[in-house]
Amino acid sequence: MNKTLPSPRRENEPLWRDEFSVSRADEHYVSRRQLAKFLTLASVGMFAGNLWILLRSWLRKAPEYPRRTIAEASEIPVGGVKLFQYPKPADQCIIIRAADATYVAYSQKCTHLSCAVFYAREHDRLECPCHQGYFSVTDGSVLQGPPTRPLPQVVLERSGDALVAIGMKPEV
Ligand code: FES
Repeated sequence: MNKTLPSPRRENEPLWRDEFSVSRADEHYVSRRQLAKFLTLASVGMFAGNLWILLRSWLRKAPEYPRRTIAEASEIPVGGVKLFQYPKPADQCIIIRAADATYVAYSQKCTHLSCAVFYAREHDRLECPCHQGYFSVTDGSVLQGPPTRPLPQVVLERSGDALVAIGMKPEV
């Protein structure tokens, strides 16, 4: 580094100039070595951050869902609904008997701002009253409104007359 020696104090210059004898030009001077050091440290930091994100996504376990009987098939009339909680007690869901042998279930939480959706039988769709978001009963996809993501679907299994929830699609 090209260091200049401090010049001798002139008569009317303050004393602190002697004690902090770094010239203004030197303060702004960044050597190539300092820049290389900074860039290397920044690169190592970014590499470590990305490695951490990658490891976390590799080590993340797929959520496990309980098997839970949520309704008896015969208790829901065609076009009827039943509310239930799945997978946790606070996760409100809705099951709809769309046809004689067709049952579909979704999370009741709208994917826009989490208002509760309900089944509008006259339009055969799930509707959110907050901002008129509409979802398909067939697959939970968005039909209209501000939501951009489909409703998470509860995966069902039939066991005799029992309708059993076995998971969520996509996983939540
Ligand atoms: S919260 Fe459902 S559409 Fe906005």
